[in-house]
Amino acid sequence: MASDEHREVSGQGRPDDQQVDAALRPRGFDEYIGQTRVKENLRVFTAAAKGRGEPVDHLLFAGPPGLGKTSLAYIVAAEMGVKLHLTSGPALEKKGDLAGILTSLEAGDVLFIDEIHRLSAAVEENLYPAMEEFRFDVVIGDGPHARTMTLPLPRFTLVGATTRSGLLSSPLRDRFGYLARLDFYSEEELEQIVQRSAERLPANLSEAGARQIAARSRGTPRVANRLLRRLRDFAEVYGDGQIDGMIADRGLAALEIDARGFDEMDRRILTFIIDHFDGGPVGLNTLAAAIGEEPTTIEDVYEPYLIKNGYLERTPRGRKTTGRAYAHIGRPRRQTKLL
Ligand SMILES: Nc1ncnc2c1ncn2[C@@H]1O[C@H](COP(=O)(O)OP(=O)(O)OP(=O)(O)O)[C@@H](O)[C@H]1O
Ligand SMILES: [Mg+2]
Repeated sequence: MASDEHREVSGQGRPDDQQVDAALRPRGFDEYIGQTRVKENLRVFTAAAKGRGEPVDHLLFAGPPGLGKTSLAYIVAAEMGVKLHLTSGPALEKKGDLAGILTSLEAGDVLFIDEIHRLSAAVEENLYPAMEEFRFDVVIGDGPHARTMTLPLPRFTLVGATTRSGLLSSPLRDRFGYLARLDFYSEEELEQIVQRSAERLPANLSEAGARQIAARSRGTPRVANRLLRRLRDFAEVYGDGQIDGMIADRGLAALEIDARGFDEMDRRILTFIIDHFDGGPVGLNTLAAAIGEEPTTIEDVYEPYLIKNGYLERTPRGRKTTGRAYAHIGRPRRQTKLL
């Protein structure tokens, strides 16, 4: 259940979402809205590498789910005119899994490793020489007769993606040539993104509808695209098919998404800390157990947006809510007790 809810917010894992993600994915830098600095830097790196006839240096994309890391990896590969090979930290369980994918690469290809902070130590160690010297060491036999054989690899670009760059070991982080941190999108950017998605789906989206979606999608393109599809359903059943301001309001209320774009789990987190811990601090594990969610999901999916917008604080002793959270949840703020 916990992981279902993770998917609900990040939109990953559900087959319809994955298909729509793929269909709505921006195909080039021009279609990729926002993240201007990162995008311009990547334009430079890809153009320069192409000019030299070399692969791009290894890239690390960090940021909360649904902000466009996978999309950027596809764009880099497309820009370079090479193939993208997709895998993930948890999928590379053994050294052999890594060997298999590395030896399938052709010169210049992009290897995309999602959730790269979840690589096992053994696999990570074997990735270092592959990244630095484009070689892979295989040990043949064991005991005193063991020999190491070196497999040369084609030069390739590793693109790592992580929702938690803090969990990456520094030797791994240091082997990337560029670290791009993706940030939440502005409402104007999200408005452009859903307008474009509406053309592609297609969906009949009014300006007022686009503004509503943009304001209530937690700064996240994937959430905006998902709300667009849900509101299209409401527009078709309750209205004449157009997502106007009224339909958007009605649909978002039915989806229990409030004026700030918080969903039920966001509110459950804030309410629990306020009602049971007087606003905190409360430890992550206690919070997770109480609201029935995985600690990592709280950290990866929910907290970043609440923290970014000043509703929650992370302190050494645990999570604390702010005055803004009390006002949003509709609780009077407790006065500091005088002894
Ligand atoms: N800058 C953007 N411009 C337009 N659409 C975007 C942009 N970024 C993301 N999207 C849309 O959001 C969807 C999700 O993006 P993507 O899958 O790249 O996110 P992600 O960061 O890889 O997420 P996760 O951490 O969950 O893997 C894409 O399919 C695309 O439709
Ligand atoms: Mg992704």
